Amino acid sequence: MAKSFAVIGDPIDHSLSPNIHSAAFRELNLDSSYIGYRIPKGELEGGIEGLKKIKINGFNITIPHKIEMMKYLDKMDESCSIIGAVNTVVNNEGVLKGYNTDMDGFLEPLKKRNITIQNSKVLLLGAGGAARAIVAGIAKEKAANIDIVNRTIEKANNLSEFARKLGLSAKVKKIESIDTTIEDYDIIINATSIGLKDEPSPISFEGINEKTVVYDIVYTPMNTDFIKKAKLKNAIIIYGYEMLLGQATRAFEIWHEIKAPYNAMKKSLLGGF
Ligand SMILES: NC(=O)c1ccc[n+]([C@@H]2O[C@H](COP(=O)([O-])OP(=O)(O)OC[C@H]3O[C@@H](n4cnc5c(N)ncnc54)[C@H](OP(=O)(O)O)[C@@H]3O)[C@@H](O)[C@H]2O)c1
Repeated sequence: MAKSFAVIGDPIDHSLSPNIHSAAFRELNLDSSYIGYRIPKGELEGGIEGLKKIKINGFNITIPHKIEMMKYLDKMDESCSIIGAVNTVVNNEGVLKGYNTDMDGFLEPLKKRNITIQNSKVLLLGAGGAARAIVAGIAKEKAANIDIVNRTIEKANNLSEFARKLGLSAKVKKIESIDTTIEDYDIIINATSIGLKDEPSPISFEGINEKTVVYDIVYTPMNTDFIKKAKLKNAIIIYGYEMLLGQATRAFEIWHEIKAPYNAMKKSLLGGF
């Protein structure tokens, strides 16, 4: 029987998810479709009712609904309850089960490169929804500690509290102090939206070396200023599209219970850049 999927959010026009999933359906000859569906803030409940009426098989959730969607779930995977946000839902005859694939999506490119997070020192820029999934992943992999920098200090404090609850040693740092201590970090992650509009990197990367891992989760443009500056230091670079692909392949596998065609999905994504 034909299956249908969607990504909900607002804005949704520029979402790359319909392309990525449609490429997988084509590759595996699956009779499935995937659309972008704009649901404005404040209209989530009605939007979900509509999706249930058309018997949608599953959907992804993006900004601004990842947290609010939690209250419409009937069941929750551990990934979702730990992080407190949902990005993937399975609809089983009206019963909605939530998952969060951002954490595994974030970890996947590190694992692919055999980068060990255990005992590493991590610097995280940002304290929004994505940063929360990243902290859960870093805690799961037992990093030595994490320093968090964010424009709004209360959010950084909340996130470091969350990290400590997960057993991860965490501190909040001021952005001004970072460049003088940057050589202390093994992994540096940008989980802010800085770069989306071609803004300059908030850190200079003086003092990092070719063993430092620099991971930008912003995926458009692919080569943010953050990435470009780190490349000049020959750092190990991880691009935002890799996390995007990681969370999409994981969602695919939850819905279809077969291995995702990674290369076909990657090709569709990189063709879009
Ligand atoms: N690659 C992937 O798969 C993936 C997955 C999820 C998200 N993302 C990307 O990650 C970014 C963050 O997503 P999110 O869901 O965490 O969003 P969010 O919850 O809205 O958080 C945004 C973060 O960016 C910071 N920020 C925004 N504008 C800033 C500015 N001008 N100067 C300094 N800090 C600024 C915010 O700081 P304040 O707390 O001070 O507002 C906050 O830390 C987005 O660009 C998104 O596209 C990528």
